[in-house]
Amino acid sequence: MDDRYVLLTGGLGFIGSHTAVELLEAGYSVVIADDLSNSDISVLGRIEAISGRKPVFYQIDVSDRRAVRRVFRAHDISAVIHFAGFKAVGESVSVPVKYYRNNIDSMLSVLEEMDQAGCKRVIFSSSATVYGESNPVPYREDMPAGACSNPYGWTKFMIERILIDKAHAAELKGEDFKATLLRYFNPIGAHPSGLIGEKPNGIPNNLMPYITQVAAGIRPKLSVFGNDYDTPDGTGVRDYIHVVDLAKGHLAALGHIERDESESLNIFNLGTGRGYSVLDVVKAFEKVNGVPVPYEIAPRRAGDLAWSYADASLAEKTLGWKAELGIEEMCRDSWNWQNGPACRGEL
Ligand code: WQD
Repeated sequence: MDDRYVLLTGGLGFIGSHTAVELLEAGYSVVIADDLSNSDISVLGRIEAISGRKPVFYQIDVSDRRAVRRVFRAHDISAVIHFAGFKAVGESVSVPVKYYRNNIDSMLSVLEEMDQAGCKRVIFSSSATVYGESNPVPYREDMPAGACSNPYGWTKFMIERILIDKAHAAELKGEDFKATLLRYFNPIGAHPSGLIGEKPNGIPNNLMPYITQVAAGIRPKLSVFGNDYDTPDGTGVRDYIHVVDLAKGHLAALGHIERDESESLNIFNLGTGRGYSVLDVVKAFEKVNGVPVPYEIAPRRAGDLAWSYADASLAEKTLGWKAELGIEEMCRDSWNWQNGPACRGEL
């Protein structure tokens, strides 16, 4: 054991891979555990190509405690960032038990093996979806979580609860365990190299991958889900955040949880604090990239809210982190990724 590592579960996924790059570039040694169920092994080489450093890789399902134990035995792991999990909202509605089983089991097995190995720092990929349907915008970390609109959201809520209880128990016992919950808003964009980005399986559910596929001629037009919301142009407003900014937020959260001043439980929104409507995003994309995005107005999508955006001030004050990249960079890098050889499978 020559070094201390950070373990990234799900580290070959969209957010995990960008975070791996930022950690490696900042000098951390990285172990990635990923079962490749929704990611591609080629991402590993691309992380290395961008950062010039190689992560250690294990192809394992992190719900498998024995497999996780082998990773902890092989490396001195100082912290875990837990990205692994199923994340398709619609699928979670149709097969909820699969989502609860996978997402909760994987967190529990990681926590149990962290305890066995004496690893005391964990950062969790949570979501703004835990603010549910009843809180007013902008969302603040001290608002009550719950009232999620789908099982995917409830898995995030339940894992938050598990970590809150674990941090509380540790505090009562005077143990040095710390957890940080990062509530992501709407991550889009891609690494400016064009080597890593989001590759949805089949028809995209999320707005930006759908826009890039329409712009590329893969799909004929975007359906805008509702234009009768109580928003300036009637379409839904979201806090889109560039995935590279989001990845840097993890670096800041890791630095914070390693320092004495952090609490046993820390919760941060990772957003920009600014909302854009669906039509704002379409117009920004067309302007920055000079390509048309044909669209039609369609009925509202079940479970969608009119508004979602962060109060991003706590992360700025406590972590010294704030998002730097704007909607133009998000649209430019999403399009650059869509057109690059890595996304098209030519690398
Ligand atoms: C954004 C806006 C849509 C597609 C979801 C999950 C959340 C998180 C991120 C991740 C909304 C509109 C979309 C389309 C459209 N999960 N839209 N046409 O719903 O804010 O968040 O993804 O793992 O938990 O709920 O993101 O990108 O799907 O939608 O008009 O084809 O775009 O109605 O207003 P959402 P989104």
